Amino acid sequence: MAGNIQAIKGTKDTLPSESYKSQYIEQAALDTAKTYGFHEMRTPVFEYTELFDRSVGETTDVVQKEMYTFNDKGDRSITLRPEGTAGAVRAFLEHGLFNEPLPQKVCYLTSCYRYEKPQAGRLREFHQFGIECFGAGSPLADAEVIALANSYFTFLGLEEYSLEINSIGCPECRKKYQEALKAYFEERKGDLCETCLSRLERNPMRILDCKSPVCSKIAENAPVVLDYICDDCKEHFEKLQKYLDTMNIPYTINAQIVRGLDYYTRTVFEFVSQHEKTKGLVLCGGGRYDGLVEELGGSALPACGLAIGLERLLMAMEESGVQFPEAPKCNLSIVTAGENAMLKAVELSADLRAQGYSVNVDTVGRSIKAQMKYANKIGSEFTVVIGDNELESNIAQLKCMEDGSQTEVSLAEFTECFERAYMNQAVAAFGNADFSNLTQVDINNLLK
Ligand code: HAM
Repeated sequence: MAGNIQAIKGTKDTLPSESYKSQYIEQAALDTAKTYGFHEMRTPVFEYTELFDRSVGETTDVVQKEMYTFNDKGDRSITLRPEGTAGAVRAFLEHGLFNEPLPQKVCYLTSCYRYEKPQAGRLREFHQFGIECFGAGSPLADAEVIALANSYFTFLGLEEYSLEINSIGCPECRKKYQEALKAYFEERKGDLCETCLSRLERNPMRILDCKSPVCSKIAENAPVVLDYICDDCKEHFEKLQKYLDTMNIPYTINAQIVRGLDYYTRTVFEFVSQHEKTKGLVLCGGGRYDGLVEELGGSALPACGLAIGLERLLMAMEESGVQFPEAPKCNLSIVTAGENAMLKAVELSADLRAQGYSVNVDTVGRSIKAQMKYANKIGSEFTVVIGDNELESNIAQLKCMEDGSQTEVSLAEFTECFERAYMNQAVAAFGNADFSNLTQVDINNLLK
């Protein structure tokens, strides 16, 4: 191919200058999950296609239009995971986690792949933080899952979002609803897209999340599922609301939410950005899926979970000016003149790195001036120049790049001297800081 190869449409590179933000939200996700008793599970990026056909559902947009499916060299149909729940359920069953104490609470950070039309907040490769709770049927499990996402957003300092909840009932009450939907769409079938025409017979509910503008317009006035749910499902939904009220988590009931994946039963919900620049962006989606474990070969075991789109979350945080912790810095650049000084730098940097400091040494063979310039450009907090004089006297000048102050340090006890100077600087910065308007995020950062 002539010219430079570009990244595939709908994929995104995370460059070193930005990756600390992803690391921050990913670590915060795992930390929050831990406080609710969820522990990480890792599953493969690809699975047999059948897994997604049977879980996500053959009539969904995801399965019909968006999966990256191919035959491997053994002629098996393989799919890059479009979401994390199916793989988590498969692993739960394959490893007999149902024999462990229930509920089993797992979380994951995964890449997902969907062949969707790329646009702001919609990628073909994206990342999710997800949680799944297996073996808990109480609406309190739904509330806890929702509370976890809410705690996570609060920890990150995200404010302008709403929580929208709905119940889509159980397979029993869904039958009546499907009939009502079918009757409604039957009358308008001349305007439906091809895919929806096939859904009309097999699964009319899927017409509700068709992305074609004409079908979406027709779907606006379709019967809503909340009017059809049975007494048990109603009670489950009311209890969920009671728990959310007790947890002081604000929400609205949005009868239009049905979610685009087939496995949901009863509770479904979405967290939606309300910031003016990202308004309407769905940051998180989830719900209960009481039939899926059984559908995939296990026993009837209730379950619920959610997934948060990490690129969307970052976008919402950035657009609304949420603070991130500072980017990691180079603590010290050792500037050297000559081979012996370079050897000394190797020795000193090894000691300091073992203490956890980030240290840069010249690996290019630049002049002192060029090394200082580089140290400045990469934002080194301190520099020390080592040449023949310093080696001979065993004394060097440690320079604080922020205020230009210099401290005489002994090369023989360099690590101790550096640590002292570093701490003094940190204490001085702390003393000068303005703590009058601390936000929760500032406090989190200070405590880190
Ligand atoms: P989902 O709503 O399909 O649910 O995806 C969850 C989140 O992933 C969305 O709310 C959105 O933030 C993000 N997302 C989805 N598609 C894209 C895309 N093309 N580009 C960027 N971000 C995207 C699920 O995946 C379910 N497995 C969630 C779940 C877990 N339900 C129960 N347990």
